[in-house]
Amino acid sequence: MSKASEAPETPSGTAEVPDTRLDRAAESQEKITGEIRAVEDAYRAGREAGAPEETGPRLDYPPYRSTLLRHPTKSLVHADPETIELFSPVFGERDVHPLEADLTIQHNGEPIGERITVRGRVVDGDGRPVRRQLVEVWQANAAGRYMHKRDQHPAPLDPNFTGVGRMLTDDDGWYEFQSVKPGPYPWKNHFKAWRPAHIHFSLFGREFTQRVVTQMYFPGDPLFPLDPIFQTIPDAAARERLIATYDHDITTHEWATGYRWDIVLTGSRRTVFEQDRPEEGDDE
Ligand SMILES: [Fe+2]
Repeated sequence: MSKASEAPETPSGTAEVPDTRLDRAAESQEKITGEIRAVEDAYRAGREAGAPEETGPRLDYPPYRSTLLRHPTKSLVHADPETIELFSPVFGERDVHPLEADLTIQHNGEPIGERITVRGRVVDGDGRPVRRQLVEVWQANAAGRYMHKRDQHPAPLDPNFTGVGRMLTDDDGWYEFQSVKPGPYPWKNHFKAWRPAHIHFSLFGREFTQRVVTQMYFPGDPLFPLDPIFQTIPDAAARERLIATYDHDITTHEWATGYRWDIVLTGSRRTVFEQDRPEEGDDE
């Protein structure tokens, strides 16, 4: 979840370098947006010519600069899931305390920010609930800062907010947690690169090999078209499935605004996951 990104060297020519002190973030948003549009146009043209739908993130996506260096170039090593289970740590339902789903009560005081409740269902492709699923979340604070040594940008840390929590889905597949709305934050992909506000999710199945990782976004964010991570998913409808909806039934009186976000593990409405990425934990 750190934001460091191994961007390639500054391209030849300095005409579009806005500030020579920012050598690792010299490329303009205009250039990145142009590349995003070019990929999108090519995808759309391909679809019209009969190319298959792409609902997952592209692992090699040039506008997201660090994917050029770290995307896999060989097929993944396939392991026997049962053998892995012999060496993997395990968790039990008793290990997860209900209070771990409240990110606002982990310290002595209240975190700063807009208090939110996020609620949704984890279902399979047929809409059946996925019960007792471990859901883990991590996020920046309201100022857009992670409590992480590699996040050193000049926004304040909140001594009352760590930004991690976890919970189990109930018998009907529902999860719910309390938090504060994360802020957008800058990263080093290009000049003035800002990530739309988001919450990272990890879901464990019954085995470690079933783990999936993804991000939830908030509706109406003006940074969506500019963000090369959100845009790594070529299919617009699939991208939309990563955006929560404001839900007034989840909103509580004088306490928190509510968001609904369902996670579909399989099938044509499947939520986009990052699990095939080589360093999903090193994401921005
Ligand atoms: Fe993030």
